[in-house]
Amino acid sequence: MEPTPINLNNRRILLGITGGIAAYKAAELTRRFQDQGADVRIIMTRSATEFITPLTMQALSKHPVHLDLLNPDTESVMGHIELARWADLILIAPASANFLARFASGHGDDLLTTVCLAAECPVAIAPAMNQAMWSKAATQSNRSTLLSRGAHILGPDEGLQACGETGAGRLMAVDDLVLRASALFSTGALQGKTVVITAGPTREAIDPVRYISNHSSGKQGYALAAAASDAGAHVILISGPTHLAVPDRVTAINVVSALDMHEAVQSVIDQADIFIGVAAVADYRPTIAANQKIKKNQDGQRSLTLEFIENPDIIKAVAQRPDRPFTVGFAAETEHLETHAKQKLVNKQLDLVVANNVANTDIGFNADDNAITVVYHDGSRVLPMMSKRALSERLVEIIAQRLSST
Ligand code: PMT
Repeated sequence: MEPTPINLNNRRILLGITGGIAAYKAAELTRRFQDQGADVRIIMTRSATEFITPLTMQALSKHPVHLDLLNPDTESVMGHIELARWADLILIAPASANFLARFASGHGDDLLTTVCLAAECPVAIAPAMNQAMWSKAATQSNRSTLLSRGAHILGPDEGLQACGETGAGRLMAVDDLVLRASALFSTGALQGKTVVITAGPTREAIDPVRYISNHSSGKQGYALAAAASDAGAHVILISGPTHLAVPDRVTAINVVSALDMHEAVQSVIDQADIFIGVAAVADYRPTIAANQKIKKNQDGQRSLTLEFIENPDIIKAVAQRPDRPFTVGFAAETEHLETHAKQKLVNKQLDLVVANNVANTDIGFNADDNAITVVYHDGSRVLPMMSKRALSERLVEIIAQRLSST
């Protein structure tokens, strides 16, 4: 069976294009990444613009193309450091011999090399050049240097080249590039495990037309479901109402209220090796949900009092099972993050708590990014602000490590 690329939903790929005849293939590559769900942004070197226009790449990527270091226009849209932080993966395709040499020797005198130097995400390089240039000792030495520093070198392919010569130096085929680049996101850290994740808000009915809820969008829980699935897990996502698409290969169970969520969790928890409670579950629900719409000023009343009753604590019930899975809670806090998270770790008998500061609107509820403190019984670890997707991958690695050491 043909291998298929893993889903790239919510992945941020920064595509660097350098000068070479294969630059035109970057257009097709951009489309193929987008077909897999990726958000693609483009950096072009000045010599790349001799082979394909920035306008073409802007139209395809739907974002301004970044050309120069310290250009006031593009820097104000997204500065070079911000661009490096934005990316989940940087892929340079095609990468010229000149780029390999400059990156290997640590140059930072144009936008692309500077962003590569500043990158904390994986950097993949797809060389394309004349076969004699590729086989030269200098180029091979640059290749080895970059490999030893953690770069991923994809290709080149062998075959007939644009210059008429035959040999190794062709840009890897676009399909293969998409496959190999997407495989860089898969770790296999949770291969064979079943992970149950709750996500999103719950809605607690007041009457048939009104409810009480919260600001959870589901983004963090869905990102974690995608990351766990990419790490090889069978994922069951139990979600309150959201507008998000279910990640590929993830089994979704849609619920509305905390009681529904509790019931759904109980129905599948026997299968779970890991349970992660990302959902913002309502702690209380109206004691009575009226059968009919509550009328304004009923019997001349100027106020309305609702009585609430406590909802089941879903994660606590999971943690109290004799055959409990590895149980991870989230804690949305506005102050004293670590202290409050630690209390939840102990009170709910969890294995790990992820604390996020929801007082900052750039992270937490409904934001695309998050910054967290992972709290264990024997310590804690801070993960700085990054996309919820990138953060989820780091979290999956931490959970996998902790699980294997229990
Ligand atoms: O969905 P997003 O917009 O991306 O936002 C993400 C988030 C901010 C909702 C998420 O990162 C987060 O912090 N989720 C937990 C929010 C929360 O309700 O925390 P809590 O402190 O009330 O609950 C602690 C833990 O107990 C959580 O794992 C929660 O799922 C669980 N819980 C709480 C109450 C309850 N009745 N049952 C539960 O299982």
